Amino acid sequence: MRRINCIGILTSGGDSPGMNAAIRAVTRTAISKGFKVKGIYRGYDGLINDEIKEFTSESVSNIVARGGTILKSARSKEFMTPEGREKAYATMQKEGIDALVVIGGNGSLTGAHNFAREHNVPCIGLPGTIDNDLYGTDLTIGYDTTLNTIVECVDKIRDTANSHERIFFVEVMGRDAGFLAQNSAIASGAEAAIIPEDSTDADQLEHFIGRGIRKSKNSSIVIVSESPKCGAMFYAERVKKEYPQYDVRVSILGHLQRGGSPTARDRILATRLGAGVIDALMDGQRNVMIGIRNDEVIYVPFADAIRSDKPMNKNLIKVLDQLSI
Ligand code: F6P
Repeated sequence: MRRINCIGILTSGGDSPGMNAAIRAVTRTAISKGFKVKGIYRGYDGLINDEIKEFTSESVSNIVARGGTILKSARSKEFMTPEGREKAYATMQKEGIDALVVIGGNGSLTGAHNFAREHNVPCIGLPGTIDNDLYGTDLTIGYDTTLNTIVECVDKIRDTANSHERIFFVEVMGRDAGFLAQNSAIASGAEAAIIPEDSTDADQLEHFIGRGIRKSKNSSIVIVSESPKCGAMFYAERVKKEYPQYDVRVSILGHLQRGGSPTARDRILATRLGAGVIDALMDGQRNVMIGIRNDEVIYVPFADAIRSDKPMNKNLIKVLDQLSI
């Protein structure tokens, strides 16, 4: 196995609060163990175009509390091609980078998986996404902060929903996963969550209305997981048409969900996982994502981490249903 002297680190895909804490943890543990660290800017595009700077311990000072990513992020189209990955490999050789640390979500770790297989480059992934949709890890970096942001917003929406006795459809992010929607609904006391994982119920809106809305409250809040075809607008229009007696409004929370200072939980998670990178490499781990399961740091092979069927605890669906009477 080739000796590793220098590691490159990048953030890729949608940013998430806590990415900076992870960059800091990787950089400082690496330096303390005698490795050289290079920061790669703008995700895989920066690797292709050689936008790279050597990091010192000071490069990551005062960032643990900051949202976003000091390395910037991108969804690189070029890296999706073998030619793009070839160029990225050439940059790694030119820069003397022996191993790559990728902080990102599903698409970013898929890129790392392909790159590692084609060029035999040691890659370690860290789960950086607000969506919490990476398989094999209980939590992803940024999820807790976003969940708290959503709950804060929904609490505010509840005030006005109550005053006007309205039904609100609040659309939240999550891409193809309903973790943010389901858990923010539980934490904010919303009456329902419409999520992709709830395939048992063909029409989740009928289910919600059929249960009898506004029984114990004078407003209703339905959290809707984003979807190109049937987001919050879709359901609001349906209610307006099918149940004109209700006063309906929509609130799409959008990108404010991705910003803000990470919660303590996210900072600690990012730090634990980031600090595990060097141990993983020294331990001979290759092409794995470092995750957390039952509060233990674990390694998940890329091929598993990028599976699209991370299970949702179905009990959560039942609990929300029972509490919304
Ligand atoms: O994957 C993170 C995420 O915020 C998703 O929840 C959302 O669907 C997507 O990224 C939005 O991406 P963009 O910032 O490119 O619009």
